[in-house]
Amino acid sequence: MNSDRIPSDLIQKYNVPGPRYTSYPTVPYWTKEQWSEQEWVAVIRKAEHHFQSEAISLYIHLPYCDSLCTFCGCHKHITTNHAVEEPYISAVLEEWRLLRKQFSKPFRIAEIHLGGGTPTFFSPQELKRLVLGLTTDALLTDHVEFGFEAHPLSTSDEHLQVLHDLGFNRVSFGIQDYDPVVQKAIHREQPFETVRKVHDKARETGFSSISHDLVFGLPKQKPESFAETVQKTISLRPDRISLYSYAHVPWIKGNGQRGFKDSDLPSPEIKRQLYEAAKQQFLEAGYQEIGMDHFALPNDELAIAAKNGNLHRNFMGYTTQQSPILIGLGMSAISDAWFGFAQNEKKITDYLSRVNSGKLPVTRGHKLNAEDLEIRQHILNLMCRFETTIKKRSYLSAETIAERLQPMIEDQLVEVHENTISLSPAGIPFVRNCCMAFDAHLNAVQPDKPTFSMTV
Ligand SMILES: C[S@@+](CC[C@H](N)C(=O)[O-])C[C@H]1O[C@@H](n2cnc3c(N)ncnc32)[C@H](O)[C@@H]1O
Ligand code: SF4
Repeated sequence: MNSDRIPSDLIQKYNVPGPRYTSYPTVPYWTKEQWSEQEWVAVIRKAEHHFQSEAISLYIHLPYCDSLCTFCGCHKHITTNHAVEEPYISAVLEEWRLLRKQFSKPFRIAEIHLGGGTPTFFSPQELKRLVLGLTTDALLTDHVEFGFEAHPLSTSDEHLQVLHDLGFNRVSFGIQDYDPVVQKAIHREQPFETVRKVHDKARETGFSSISHDLVFGLPKQKPESFAETVQKTISLRPDRISLYSYAHVPWIKGNGQRGFKDSDLPSPEIKRQLYEAAKQQFLEAGYQEIGMDHFALPNDELAIAAKNGNLHRNFMGYTTQQSPILIGLGMSAISDAWFGFAQNEKKITDYLSRVNSGKLPVTRGHKLNAEDLEIRQHILNLMCRFETTIKKRSYLSAETIAERLQPMIEDQLVEVHENTISLSPAGIPFVRNCCMAFDAHLNAVQPDKPTFSMTV
């Protein structure tokens, strides 16, 4: 079966609500509604002692944005009041001060990623204070990577220069779509010329890795105009492209996503066509497809990691970093210490008051049991390499999984050879559906309210 024309009946059959598997178990199935500081610190200590590596990754959530994009699924807070910057950065630094005391062994920072919201909402001076505060007295690994998410409309030359001087080598620009009709529907008017200027400036400043985020399946998106968006993207030659499937989850984000009608969204068939056509354009331009929604030039580290089987996936998406501990700082940030996850307070006021009273702001979390850990590894294998092998002595039985995957096997999307389960090229677009067969929590209890976006 040719993967660039997926039959409509397959799309209808497999287009179901399903997780994106940036974690396993997925957040709705975490068991600890109230996660105490002590419980979370115990998980970090366990990871510290289990893994040889001293490397940790830091993700900093910077939630503010000047203006609301009506498609947005991120944890953000819209304001034009920039007086919020100083207290927020101070709180993140205080959270880091509280947390780093809890490490029982020396660590080295392997990665700092500023995400959001919009990191470039903050002034270059506040970002500098943040990064210097995070790295003071901390050791860095030899291949440390600093990266940030940049909104093209709020990224100044000074942002680029100050962050580059601090050691930042990666930047990812939020593009989404260049069609003015789509931009109007998502309330994000952003001309190509503006993006070109800031992209060129980033190169000139010395950023060695530039990434662009595009989204397919947005309201009013059409194949012809999206092909133009992709062409414009290729003309700037970013090193990486994230081509995200639009996650329509209005029940979580309230009014933020209701700036357009459901009838403005492309059908599942058109949505898939948008991805497949864009993929073809990127491949013809020399990019390689990485995992389920990324492309990279062949000499990019993500492409090299995918080729060597070293690709990893965490809350930030696909990455080359294999740090066993990922610490998320800031409102709503999620941390992952392999044996457990924790999420910070999701309301900024709660986050600030917890940190300012000297407490770690963790709220919910999950401690993985042996079965969770085994399934987590299978899902990671499938998401990164499209293949996994079930060992003989295992919580899962290959027969049960094959039974759950029977429809996908019959449709030639999945192949089973002895205990190895792999996706066929035609099955790759349905990798989330394949992972769902391994998901013990989802198979035991279906969510009783809308929880996940559609898989196609
Ligand atoms: C935090 S934003 C990037 C930085 C900055 N706020 C901006 O918009 O330019 C992260 C990216 O998530 C993606 N994103 C946001 N909401 C999404 C949704 N509902 N479905 C799919 N991707 C989404 C967009 O591509 C966006 O660029
Ligand atoms: S897409 Fe970016 S700028 Fe727009 S609301 Fe979301 S986080 Fe803010």
